[in-house]
Amino acid sequence: MKRFLILGHKAAIDPSFTLNDLPGAAGRLDVLCRALGATLFLSHGIRRDVETHLLLQNQIRIRVSGQYVKRLNPDERSTAAIVKHALVALEEGKTRSTPGVEIERCDLSQVVDEFIRVGASPIVLHEEGVPAADFIFPSDPAFILSDHMEFSETDQRVLAELPRLSLGARALHTSQAITIAHYLLDQQDEEDAELDADLVLVHKVWGDPKALMITSLLEDFDIPVVRMAQSPPGIFPMVVDGMAEVRIMVRSRDASKAQQIIADYFEEPTDE
Ligand SMILES: C[S@@+](CC[C@H](N)C(=O)[O-])C[C@H]1O[C@@H](n2cnc3c(N)ncnc32)[C@H](O)[C@@H]1O
Repeated sequence: MKRFLILGHKAAIDPSFTLNDLPGAAGRLDVLCRALGATLFLSHGIRRDVETHLLLQNQIRIRVSGQYVKRLNPDERSTAAIVKHALVALEEGKTRSTPGVEIERCDLSQVVDEFIRVGASPIVLHEEGVPAADFIFPSDPAFILSDHMEFSETDQRVLAELPRLSLGARALHTSQAITIAHYLLDQQDEEDAELDADLVLVHKVWGDPKALMITSLLEDFDIPVVRMAQSPPGIFPMVVDGMAEVRIMVRSRDASKAQQIIADYFEEPTDE
């Protein structure tokens, strides 16, 4: 799952705003709607593995689930109408409005805590962060972006300890930064899929500690490794720490080099 949290510092929290003036009376809701579109839209579809959170004035969070959302269109006006419906629902004491859209009162620290609780890894998108080339993307990222304004002092206090990713020194629009983040994640997904399709077995060991030592050694030689654990047939129906046979898998083009390294540093590899 990929998550995006966009902080709308001035965005309307009263549903009486007019859809005819999103940049003005609705507090730059156009920026949030464009950003929401960038998180969820493909050319002819929706990214179903994305969840987008809009935090309005650090008070109200609207969560849009790519898996369940319906009637989301690429124009900002209809997205703003979804926001408006959600705010009306909140006033009526409901937490759900249109399909895939939930709303509740909470602040930034609560959203960040929730991300961590569900196993997501919050990452602040910021011009002054770690360059993308040096950044190791976690499997369940939750990107946090500001709208047209700088992160406020309150935001910065909450976000101070989180990793920061930079997409270059130039300040981009929120929606542009999201598109680039998606590009980087898509690239990584493609590399992972390529790796999965091309894996060969180079060695089998018993127990994870030894498998981890071999993995870190191979990674020192720039050989990506996938470990697959298999429990002994007939004894336990599941993988049990320390009991599992662990298969060391690498890309076919790295196989002979990996086997040579394992032989030099550990033992003759067994791949049967
Ligand atoms: C329009 S920018 C915010 C204001 C901006 N700092 C400025 O000077 O105008 C919107 C948001 O997009 C993200 N962003 C923009 N440029 C970025 C970059 N080069 N690297 C990473 N994130 C960026 C950040 O989250 C930023 O808060």
